[in-house]
Amino acid sequence: MKTEILSLLPPGHPWGQHLHWLDTIDSTNTYAKALARQGAPAGTTVIAGAQTGGRGRLGRSFVSPAGLGVYLSVILRPDCRPEDLLHLTCAAGVAAADAVQAVSSLRPGIKWTNDLVLNKRKLGGILTELAISPQTGLVDFAIVGIGINCRQTLRDFPADISSIACSLAMEGFDISPAHLSAELIRQLQQMNDRLFSEKIPIMAQFSSDCVTIGCDISILSPLDVRHGRAVGIDENGGLEVVLTDGTRETVTSGEVSIRGMYGYL
Ligand code: BTN
Repeated sequence: MKTEILSLLPPGHPWGQHLHWLDTIDSTNTYAKALARQGAPAGTTVIAGAQTGGRGRLGRSFVSPAGLGVYLSVILRPDCRPEDLLHLTCAAGVAAADAVQAVSSLRPGIKWTNDLVLNKRKLGGILTELAISPQTGLVDFAIVGIGINCRQTLRDFPADISSIACSLAMEGFDISPAHLSAELIRQLQQMNDRLFSEKIPIMAQFSSDCVTIGCDISILSPLDVRHGRAVGIDENGGLEVVLTDGTRETVTSGEVSIRGMYGYL
């Protein structure tokens, strides 16, 4: 599998020499974090055939059956403060949408902030994790983890997500995980190169891909649920919302449900 992915990358691709392939692992993000702590360089990429403990945002799991999806994490080492990286998940979402479009001609939308969606169903997700140096307060490393459903049929999803999940195969495209992995590596390396120099166009693309804008939403926090309409994205990826009482607010974390999506009526 590793040989196949390498053969699909442009010859001499700078990240090709730091590619780790694992048949099965609990989570490629956890594995990549361990490699980063041992000093692995930027561009080190971990790809697994299956994950037994794939992780998503807000403590959720990411179902990762063998051979059916892409489960990939990359180590980045930007020389910056944590607050300069608030747009990283958005940039990774745009890179992932670019990769899916390059291999299938379908461009997924992005449900704020980290879900890739096709026809209102979840195609994949992004989990970004940061480590900060206690000495400097600067970013030590970032892990960008991406999971994309390629060859699943409805039967491959557990009952609780089969009504909200999809795969490229279910949309009529038989794309191998190796092919999409190679394209993701290419797109993520370009994203890393332009992360700061082209932040404005990257965020403009995120806004255009973001299916949450213009929708009625609920903002769920441990304390309450508030309702409003999503109206835009700020320069750091925050979701600008007009609440039902007319006040404006920028949401930067937590869960946002879209009316009419993932079973929310
Ligand atoms: C989400 O749905 O909230 C994000 C899902 C992210 C899943 C990917 S699969 C590769 C990497 N390893 C993980 O454990 N999670 C990410």
